[in-house]
Amino acid sequence: MNKILVLDFGSQYTQLIARKVRELGVYSEIWPPSASIEKIREAHPQGIILSGGPQSVYENGAPTAPPEIFSLGIPVLGICYGLQLMSLLLGGKVVPSAHREYGFASLKILDRCGLLRGLSDKEQVWMSHGDKVEKLPAGFRITGRTGNTRVGAIEDPKRDLYGVQFHPEVIHTKEGKKVLSNFLFNIAGLVPDWNMGSFIERKAAEIRKTVGKGRVLCGLSGGVDSLVTALIIHKAVGKRLTCVFVDNGLLRAGQYDGLMEIFRVKLDLRVVGVDASAEFVKALAGVTDPERKRKIIGGLFIKVFQREANKLGGAKFLAQGTIYPDVIESNPVKGPSAVIKSHHNVGGLPKSHGFTLVEPLRELFKDEVRALAVELGADKAFVSQHPFPGPGLAVRIVGPIDREALRIVRAADDIVVHEVRAAGCYDRLWQAFAVLLPVRTVGVMGDQRTYQQVVVVRLVQSVDGMTADWFQAPHALLSRISTRIVNEVAGVNRVVFDITSKPPGTIEWE
Ligand code: XMP
Repeated sequence: MNKILVLDFGSQYTQLIARKVRELGVYSEIWPPSASIEKIREAHPQGIILSGGPQSVYENGAPTAPPEIFSLGIPVLGICYGLQLMSLLLGGKVVPSAHREYGFASLKILDRCGLLRGLSDKEQVWMSHGDKVEKLPAGFRITGRTGNTRVGAIEDPKRDLYGVQFHPEVIHTKEGKKVLSNFLFNIAGLVPDWNMGSFIERKAAEIRKTVGKGRVLCGLSGGVDSLVTALIIHKAVGKRLTCVFVDNGLLRAGQYDGLMEIFRVKLDLRVVGVDASAEFVKALAGVTDPERKRKIIGGLFIKVFQREANKLGGAKFLAQGTIYPDVIESNPVKGPSAVIKSHHNVGGLPKSHGFTLVEPLRELFKDEVRALAVELGADKAFVSQHPFPGPGLAVRIVGPIDREALRIVRAADDIVVHEVRAAGCYDRLWQAFAVLLPVRTVGVMGDQRTYQQVVVVRLVQSVDGMTADWFQAPHALLSRISTRIVNEVAGVNRVVFDITSKPPGTIEWE
């Protein structure tokens, strides 16, 4: 299968590049620019795209790429920062621009042979840059310019190197998709061969090669990601896969039994169920710091997996359902940007756990994983369930965790999800849940003063979990949720609704 590597210099649009390429039927992966040329060669890409980025290529410490990528004999497309970096590395000059260009611009096409084939004389493009290429490297010619930017698009067709100052991946560049498709199909000569079926086959073959005759342990979290991981690995190594589903005491009401039935009976997976709830709750007692909670949970999961691996006579490989947003938020390649959260299946694991990790979904977005799940035979109701974080209810109890807090948040969560479903809103939402606050407020119930805890209702809409909007829920729904929680969940006398989007908030409270 064909593959394009997108080297990420930190642009907010990098993911869009990868997605657009996949939408055009070509598999693409996002890589950090620090990847070595050996690793890039080993990956056998058919083309490389250099993303945009917030820095200036001439700044000290600005991210760069191995210059050898330009002589691998495969086409390279530089976008914005990528164009400037390519120019710099090949002997051109980049300088600050007197006229910064942000937003719409009109690109005058000077040459319609290669990258800009099929475009009109003038095209609407989207610009976002403060630097410009002043001197072109040898061998390049200008194929497009805007009123402010002489070097709007360049090509060296002999070496198959291309650059655009505008962003073809964003919707505001009207013919952006045509530019990318020219790169993929006319220049790199690829055929669209990426679809869910081909991905499964390819990953299964890769896993067979990595795992050899070894055994794989796969932690099921109850969510779609880890299940899809298990199903792909099952396809690859059959009964040499053992899944472990840990009841960590942090699951939703009824989740453990319901899921065991689906895993074992409907999907024919070999699943070992482990009740470790007492161990988890004990280790978390009194812990308030969210990152500490994640680390403790990550560490305990590994302990349980190690125990199970030993019982099996040793399993060298541990499979996890890590997906792309987990990778990017736990371990951003965006230069100085901060770790937001150590999503447990990436950042919360102890450094030395003794397993070789197998993470077949690392490059995928949630909607792609859901499509894979359907392809692999999971039923629709399961696939469309909301994401549930690996650390479970622990990150929905702000403050210290104990059995009482777990009882409250579990019961409130059950009511929220039930009422959201009953109102026909479930499938419109990314997530719907309850959060318990370590705050007591005064209330009055049955003429008696109460002094009890607060539950937050969080309903969000999102496409990929990277950004999210709070849901403008029907008042009748909010009213039912509130009434039921206060009436049915002992210890709660107040319900509030979270009206924060992401950013500036995150979806989970911790
Ligand atoms: P945030 O809260 O970071 O969440 O906006 C984005 C998405 O990721 C889920 N999430 C997690 N998933 N381990 C996981 O497996 C975690 O530690 C974790 N934290 C957040 C969250 O539910 C949302 O869908």
